[in-house]
Amino acid sequence: ETGKQDVAKTKLVVGADATFAPFEFTDPATGKYTGFDVELIQAICEEAGYELDFRSMGFDGLIAALQTNQIDAVISGMTITEDRKKIVNFSEPYYKSGLVVAVQEKNNQIKNFDELQGKKIAVQSGTTGALHAEKATSKDKITYFTSSDQAMLELKNGAVDAVVMDYPVTAYFIQQGNKDVKMVGEILSAEEYGIAVPKEKTETLEKINTALKTLKENGKYGEIYKKWFGE
Ligand code: ARG
Repeated sequence: ETGKQDVAKTKLVVGADATFAPFEFTDPATGKYTGFDVELIQAICEEAGYELDFRSMGFDGLIAALQTNQIDAVISGMTITEDRKKIVNFSEPYYKSGLVVAVQEKNNQIKNFDELQGKKIAVQSGTTGALHAEKATSKDKITYFTSSDQAMLELKNGAVDAVVMDYPVTAYFIQQGNKDVKMVGEILSAEEYGIAVPKEKTETLEKINTALKTLKENGKYGEIYKKWFGE
């Protein structure tokens, strides 16, 4: 193949909180980052001609890292919200999600979101789950964790009554053998995940959107989706 020359690619520094399986997490077997978001951003970089530099950091620091140009983009199961859109730009949505309430399997008291009033809730800091928990109960009943795993452990240990977190992550957690946890009630508020970029990096955003569109059209997006979500 002659067309391929050794041209230095532009680096894309992408931040994520890699404690959010199946979107971004460390594969225990290989020690490498893996998940739906990780494979999607790899494919986007390949398509757009970027060299990917993937970095994990706390979720509640990701937007600040974008604003201070420490990173060029965020892919982290991050919900596109009006508040975040004031500070950063988002790509076209790449995943439809929502929040759910998780309780211990043996809990027959909490059956839905409305029954969280006065209950102890664990959440991940800076997330839409945390915002919803704050609407459901008073702030002094909420315990904030840096990672979603920690919030789930707190529930398993019985230190809190519930966790409010993204449905696909909660479902995956239970499916991975945590049968002492269950989901109750409806999936709350339809949310969509997007890739966030600093406001001024309009060219980066365009490249990401173009690549995402191509991957949706050429079946690559569908392939990655199927691998992680089965359909
Ligand atoms: N979707 C939720 C939000 O945007 C939670 C995302 C948490 N992501 C993570 N990688 N920990 O607030």
